[in-house]
Amino acid sequence: MKTSNLPDDIQFTGDERLWLSGFLAGYDTGSTSGTAVATREDILARALTALRELDTTTDAPEILHAHTATSSTEAPGTASARKPKRSPWTRKNPYGATLVANRPLRGADSRKDVRHVVFDLGDSDIDYEAGDGLGIKPVNDPDLVAAIIERIGADPDEMITTRAGESTLIDLLTHEYEISLPTRELINHMADHSGDAELVHILSTEEREALEGWLWGKDVLDLLDLEPTLRISAAELIDLLRPLTHRVYSISSSPLTHRGMVHLTVAAVRHRSAQRDRRGQCSTFLADRISAGGTAGVFLSKNKSFRLPTDDSTPVIMIGPGTGVAPFRSFLYERKARGATGRNWLFYGDHHRATDFMYEDEIVQFQRDGILTRVDLAFSRDQDHKIYVQDRMREHGDELLRWLSGGAHLYVCGDASQMAKDVDAALHDVVAEHGGLDADAAEDYVNTLKREKRYLRDVY
Ligand SMILES: Cc1cc2nc3c(=O)[nH]c(=O)nc-3n(C[C@H](O)[C@H](O)[C@H](O)COP(=O)(O)OP(=O)(O)OC[C@H]3O[C@@H](n4cnc5c(N)ncnc54)[C@H](O)[C@@H]3O)c2cc1C
Ligand SMILES: NC(=O)c1ccc[n+]([C@@H]2O[C@H](COP(=O)([O-])OP(=O)(O)OC[C@H]3O[C@@H](n4cnc5c(N)ncnc54)[C@H](OP(=O)(O)O)[C@@H]3O)[C@@H](O)[C@H]2O)c1
Repeated sequence: MKTSNLPDDIQFTGDERLWLSGFLAGYDTGSTSGTAVATREDILARALTALRELDTTTDAPEILHAHTATSSTEAPGTASARKPKRSPWTRKNPYGATLVANRPLRGADSRKDVRHVVFDLGDSDIDYEAGDGLGIKPVNDPDLVAAIIERIGADPDEMITTRAGESTLIDLLTHEYEISLPTRELINHMADHSGDAELVHILSTEEREALEGWLWGKDVLDLLDLEPTLRISAAELIDLLRPLTHRVYSISSSPLTHRGMVHLTVAAVRHRSAQRDRRGQCSTFLADRISAGGTAGVFLSKNKSFRLPTDDSTPVIMIGPGTGVAPFRSFLYERKARGATGRNWLFYGDHHRATDFMYEDEIVQFQRDGILTRVDLAFSRDQDHKIYVQDRMREHGDELLRWLSGGAHLYVCGDASQMAKDVDAALHDVVAEHGGLDADAAEDYVNTLKREKRYLRDVY
């Protein structure tokens, strides 16, 4: 049984239910991700104690703020209407935010590991808005760092001089250089020295997509292993790498409700190929390698083109399968805190309802509170044929078009490679079928939505 389902025999207010759901989400027993297994009763007891403490302490983090923000006398909408301050924290100068929570969001039997990650923004003055992302500088996977050093037969403590000064090889590979995503320089170098027929052919065609396809799943070690006997010095290797770049994650909290905190919904990239377990550098840094109290370098990644309507009475349609749900959790808390009267409709889905319904209790509570007017779910693998969010859009096309005609703003977040394209096609079909339009007129309708900034996407 999922611990995130609250017991029916305890009376909670709507806000308490929401908070408890957030606390419990991910504490489902028997997690595959190595989190200590606790009984459902232990976890519930811990959650209830934490909730009670909130009413008596002044320094409890995210939870207290949830209570104070929603009961604040501040006029609804004022916080997001105020002009955000310019942050001194940037890609080159990230703020060391403290990790305060990291909980799996899916059940033990899920095929994927997705985490609810919470950072305390401390004294950073990072002033985000619903729709923004957080940039994070990863610390690379030590196993991959060690394997690369072993492959080139170098001393981890060898001093290397770069433009930034002198550092050890292990430090550079851990903190300063990209080891997941090979550079074109390394690819060319290895093509020249290995003569790998497939790679040489792809490079000769100059087809970017073919190269991207070949590269998918390959890291720096895979490139070096194209020619296992090739000797390369540590300094030469560093010269062929690029500086370590940040990754962006959609913020899943609302600054009005979770003041001083930022929540993320992080899918840990894990896969196995060529007899090696692979781990995404940043997602598994967040999932596995920072413990509570540890810090990560963060900065605000503003997304001015993915904002809630300023008029709180405007209806909102949100389409976000998988981790695409992240900004919509933020939107819903924001609309609730602002006392927004506009209707809200969420299309959400993932693999299986039993194990993969992330933020289930919060979504259910938003429905009970009347914040979420409609939820349409698409669990793709619960039947013998795939059902996706765009199938639900088509099923409810008539209603969807009525919302759009009534001025609704439509948002899409999540996978760019297929989902966003298929959702876009479904939107065109819905407009054509239920609006009685031909393909060109439907295209015009959708283009008008875009022009009016009522069809917004945050896809990756
Ligand atoms: C605007 C924006 C918002 C985003 N929001 C979120 C969010 O809310 N939540 C979230 O989880 N992510 C989000 N992302 C994606 C996130 O930024 C990272 O790209 C993601 O976490 C992977 O980074 P990593 O460092 O873990 O992996 P990396 O170390 O960068 O490794 C990625 C590489 O691993 C390989 N790879 C990945 N998956 C597989 C696979 N299944 N099979 C084979 N090879 C694979 C590919 O070669 C890929 O290039 C967002 C991205 C953008 C641009
Ligand atoms: N390039 C790739 O091969 C690839 C593939 C998936 C995800 N990703 C990346 O992995 C990260 C995390 O993924 P995620 O957790 O957001 O979700 P996800 O793995 O993309 O899956 C979320 C849900 O969307 C479904 N889905 C798959 N294809 C779809 C489509 N064309 N249209 C609508 N729904 C579709 C999935 O179903 P099924 O899985 O059952 O089909 C699942 O139920 C993202 O960064 C994403 O870009 C990359």
